[in-house]
Amino acid sequence: MKVAVLCSGRGSNLKALLEARARGELPHADFRAVLSDQEGAGALDTARMHGIDALTVLSSGFRGDRTGFERALLETLAPYSAELAVLAGFQRVLGRTFLDAFPAGVVNIHPALLPAFPGHMVWSKETAYGVKLAGATAHFVDEGVDSGPVICQGAVPVLETDGPDELSARILKVEHRIFPAAVGWVTSGRVSLSGRTALLRGFSPSEGEEGASLVWPPLDA
Ligand code: GRF
Repeated sequence: MKVAVLCSGRGSNLKALLEARARGELPHADFRAVLSDQEGAGALDTARMHGIDALTVLSSGFRGDRTGFERALLETLAPYSAELAVLAGFQRVLGRTFLDAFPAGVVNIHPALLPAFPGHMVWSKETAYGVKLAGATAHFVDEGVDSGPVICQGAVPVLETDGPDELSARILKVEHRIFPAAVGWVTSGRVSLSGRTALLRGFSPSEGEEGASLVWPPLDA
């Protein structure tokens, strides 16, 4: 499946995806292009290092014109014929103009256990709130803010000593584990939706298929 990745910053999730691909873990993901809406994003260097076209469409040129921005994204990505768009740290909310262009959908990684803590700066909100469990969510993207159907989630404890930086570092490790898994399942056509609920086809818990759990770490029911 042809994939375009959209980023805005350092690109550690992109790196995790491309390293998983290099290890042979994403055999059905054909990463065609990486696009950043920010100049000089680290993600662009990562793309080039892996021999993938690195593109830029600056969101700053489209203030107040989301449709124009989305059209520019689609025009830039058109030569790559991507079927799936992967948002790996892309910091803009996208609407139907963009979302409807990808037959396999658009997926995102968010650093919280949705539907808790959507949006930005979740780590300071979580530590301020006093939650004991935090984590990350890979999900399909809809027009809302981090509101699309969940694909899989991974959890970490929140320690008394955690500030936002400590918590974000712990969550990021989970992101790097669950996002490549989610993208692998989607690109191999194994994820289907029943309403909002993601189902992983071909997963047989009784056969103990390693790593094929929509919850990380796997928990007893
Ligand atoms: C990650 O925390 C991701 O969950 C969020 O944006 C951040 C991007 O980090 N959507 P990186 O650019 O992948 O390192």
